[in-house]
Amino acid sequence: MDDSRWAEVDRYIENTLLPRDAVLEAALVDAAAAGLPAINVSPAQGKLLYILAAAMGARRILELGTLAGYSAIWMARALPPGGRLVTLEVNPRHADVARRNLARAGVADRVDVRVGPALDELGRLAAERAEPFDLIFIDADKVGYPAYFLAVLALSRPGTLILADNIIRNGAVAMPGSTDENVRAVRRFNEIVAAEPRVTATAIQTVGAKGYDGFAAIVVGVD
Ligand code: SAH
Ligand code: DHB
Ligand code: MG
Repeated sequence: MDDSRWAEVDRYIENTLLPRDAVLEAALVDAAAAGLPAINVSPAQGKLLYILAAAMGARRILELGTLAGYSAIWMARALPPGGRLVTLEVNPRHADVARRNLARAGVADRVDVRVGPALDELGRLAAERAEPFDLIFIDADKVGYPAYFLAVLALSRPGTLILADNIIRNGAVAMPGSTDENVRAVRRFNEIVAAEPRVTATAIQTVGAKGYDGFAAIVVGVD
């Protein structure tokens, strides 16, 4: 079993379960044309974000790490009328591409792209006494994850679902001696989550066209 099989099965899943979507495809084409890295979630993962948001009836969604708006389009599509997605992006070039992609997807009216370091923007949201978010997708720089977790917890309510992308890192997460700062950060993130009495959490490994990685799923205050 190797990466080519994983990519083949991702194609199978897309061909079988994900209808072709010109708007999402165009978002990735424009992202590549603008020189942005292809580190968006896969189509199947994007649809999982959509399904989870829809299943929980999320009205307020928060994303850390917009890139070209690919995952944001998926999540914004699940919002009911009057719902809102706030997405945080440090790179103004990425935010520009994202705003164009979100506009073409017809969701710009529901999405607030805020440009700045995620931690600053999270502090700003807390200072604004922003209503708690129902679903939070952490997908910005991995070194920031420990701080992001505590900051988003302050923007949560019991029942909030927090997802954190890229915490398996090709399996390196299980290596205590890793010197990779990203691995060290996601390990620290998992430890903080595990020690936090206000949440309960798991993590799921994934393979696919984007390689071997995985995500954490954390729910606030239900047990
Ligand atoms: N969620 C996107 C992918 C995000 S890639 C998708 O799946 O479509 C990670 C993004 O986080 C990049 O655009 C990067 O510029 C941004 N980022 C990196 N450091 C950041 C920070 N400190 N604050 C906010 N965004 C950051
Ligand atoms: C990277 C970031 C991501 O969010 C991702 O899903 C894959 C890769 C990266 O920074 O390399
Ligand atoms: Mg990611």
